[in-house]
Amino acid sequence: MTATRETRRREAEAGSARRLAVHFSSATAEWTTPPAVLTRVVQCLGGIDLDPCADAACTVPAAQHFTPADDGLAQWWSGRVYMNPPYGRPIAAWIGKLLNEVAAGHVSAAIALVPARTDTAWFRRLDGWPVAFWHGRLRFGQAPHAAPFPSAVVWIRIPVDHFAATFGAVATIYAPLPDAVASSTPGDTSTPWAVSGPLQNRGPAGPAGPRVL
Ligand SMILES: C[S@@+](CC[C@H](N)C(=O)[O-])C[C@H]1O[C@@H](n2cnc3c(N)ncnc32)[C@H](O)[C@@H]1O
Repeated sequence: MTATRETRRREAEAGSARRLAVHFSSATAEWTTPPAVLTRVVQCLGGIDLDPCADAACTVPAAQHFTPADDGLAQWWSGRVYMNPPYGRPIAAWIGKLLNEVAAGHVSAAIALVPARTDTAWFRRLDGWPVAFWHGRLRFGQAPHAAPFPSAVVWIRIPVDHFAATFGAVATIYAPLPDAVASSTPGDTSTPWAVSGPLQNRGPAGPAGPRVL
């Protein structure tokens, strides 16, 4: 290949990558839920009452959809909610709205699919609710490639064993410590994970003796 053709090829590739980057960067709102997630959400919730931030095609099989024309942030939410919010800056408002609707008792159960941006203030607001980190990267909507970020699934008011039965094989699940542990006093060994002074190796002794952690 001549130098000119090679240069043109590189420019074309760079242009295509730029266009993709704009369309699928976390700043764009159009990250429609992949079927692998959607199937599990429906199974886990037993049906979706509300998609509060729907795309024009209403990809999520919910009984009710709020589109930008309705402005989902300005509506009352109810029932079993599945939320895959617009990514980028607006996401904080959607997390706040979800938590407010849950606290108000309007939402009976919820699942939210969000980028696993554990370093952000909005993600920290989800502390206290269990979270599952999706294995690998999701390929959203019509994207030709997997997302450039990992995803997390947060679930609210769903028993952990029920959630694990549907998502356990595709995501690693973390649940907050129960209140009993948070309030446990040093020396309290009533729960197997209670902190009692210095950390101890509670694993089984192998052939070479106890493992030192
Ligand atoms: C990440 S996409 C999710 C789409 C769909 N819910 C899904 O999971 O496949 C976020 C969607 O939120 C919609 N959206 C943005 N602002 C909105 C608003 N104020 N009210 C309702 N929907 C909104 C956008 O149109 C976009 O399609």
